[in-house]
Amino acid sequence: MTTGPITLTLNGTPRQLPPGTSPTMTLLDWLRGPAALAGTKEGCAEGDCGACTVVIEEPDGARVPVNSCLLLLGQAHGCCIRTVEGLRGPDGGAHPVQRVLAEADATQCGFCTPGIVMTGWAHAREGGNVHEALAGNLCRCTGYRPIVEAFASLGDDGAASPSPPAILANQLEAPGQVFHRPADLEALLALRAAHPEAWLLAGGTDLCLRVSEHRERPAEVICLSGVPELNGLEVRPDGLLVGAGASYRRLLAACEGDAAFAPLAGLLRRLGSRQIRGMGTLGGNLGTASPIGDALPPLVALGASLRLAGPEGMREMAVENFLTGYRTNALRPGEVILDVFIPRPSKAALFAAEKLSKRPDQDITMVGLSALIAFEDGRVFSARIALGGTGPHVARIIPAEVALAGQVWSREAVEAAAQALEAAIAPLSDWRGSADYRRIAAGNLLRRLWHRQGEAA
Ligand SMILES: Cc1cc2nc3c(=O)[nH]c(=O)nc-3n(C[C@H](O)[C@H](O)[C@H](O)COP(=O)(O)OP(=O)(O)OC[C@H]3O[C@@H](n4cnc5c(N)ncnc54)[C@H](O)[C@@H]3O)c2cc1C
Ligand code: FES
Ligand code: FES
Repeated sequence: MTTGPITLTLNGTPRQLPPGTSPTMTLLDWLRGPAALAGTKEGCAEGDCGACTVVIEEPDGARVPVNSCLLLLGQAHGCCIRTVEGLRGPDGGAHPVQRVLAEADATQCGFCTPGIVMTGWAHAREGGNVHEALAGNLCRCTGYRPIVEAFASLGDDGAASPSPPAILANQLEAPGQVFHRPADLEALLALRAAHPEAWLLAGGTDLCLRVSEHRERPAEVICLSGVPELNGLEVRPDGLLVGAGASYRRLLAACEGDAAFAPLAGLLRRLGSRQIRGMGTLGGNLGTASPIGDALPPLVALGASLRLAGPEGMREMAVENFLTGYRTNALRPGEVILDVFIPRPSKAALFAAEKLSKRPDQDITMVGLSALIAFEDGRVFSARIALGGTGPHVARIIPAEVALAGQVWSREAVEAAAQALEAAIAPLSDWRGSADYRRIAAGNLLRRLWHRQGEAA
């Protein structure tokens, strides 16, 4: 392990942070404090409002908007970061993105505007749907119409990414803190064994709330982003092999290019925001094992499996067996999730991944239902139906699967399965929805499959 300073390229200029700078300070706190760049704003400090949006400039030219309130300096180590202060037009004045927003009257009090400018700058290069691009940026006073119109007319400035800093330490230290950045799986497992209490940090979109909201200062962190074995993503004839540390952004791009995974792409587009998907990972969703983790129902329905690496070697298990209870999983001491294999659904099967939430984007799931229904000779040959948000963990609903198996795919068969599903679950009430609402909504998500797909299957 090489110990050294936190190094990053900020607005095109390499920077070495003074010795002793805490690697778990958020990038936002550092920008607004020691770096004296107060253009980036703090609204919520929990990844929701987007006022803190900055952009990671990838070596391949990609621009990834991220929430700097959830990005630790140790994660930014080795990255090229651009903030609103780093945008300039060709004449040295306002950047075209800033001009377009100003001319469209797309700013009022201006608090959200630096974040919206940075999201717009990334969007101008990355493209895609404007509303989806803006899902992670809240504006409480302008009204979105002028912002949306401005975004629709943005053009890429064509600027290349700067070079990332050359020399990288893989151990960052501050008084009472060590931030490890292992460079391969072997080093990761050795660190995991030596520091069982250390935070295991992937994208940090769950874990870093403990820093940004609760102001925790962990003594030891092991960061996964530099471990190549966890960061692969392969599209194979039989499915997707996704490194536990590959971002949702990369997974979404793979699913968007593959018709078999279109329903998964549709779901991922609604997971958090572009900022959250730029950092968040499948490994983190599995590690948290939340009953409303959005990626979990489709993984269970598709029969995905994962590989765990640990002191005793490698083992493989089905995702449905990995989820053991409310926010608990089958990881043993010293183990990490290495990767997830998502089998390709057959063209003849019906694959659906539904999410019900109070608003379409950047919202927490009330009920999630994914299903894989295979047919043979006009009948349901097999059905896998996975639910989230209706029990302690995401799980298959076997009585509903049994009700469908062997039946002719019909409205009546789906109704019987929906009733079996409603009878099999015992959801809790909370402020997002009552137990009755959740039960009926879960059944209706299954009924909706019939209405959507009907006899086409
Ligand atoms: C504003 C906001 C919106 C969100 N919206 C959604 C949403 O719509 N749907 C949704 O499902 N989630 C959502 N989340 C939660 C979060 O983005 C996801 O759970 C994400 O998958 C977490 O991944 P991560 O890489 O950021 O995990 P981290 O925060 O880095 O880690 C989470 C947990 O997993 C463990 N872990 C991570 N990787 C591994 C590994 N390889 N092996 C073993 N353990 C590991 C960590 O130790 C930690 O305990 C949202 C979060 C925020 C802040
Ligand atoms: S401050 Fe609101 S998303 Fe970061
Ligand atoms: S302009 Fe005031 S919050 Fe957007």
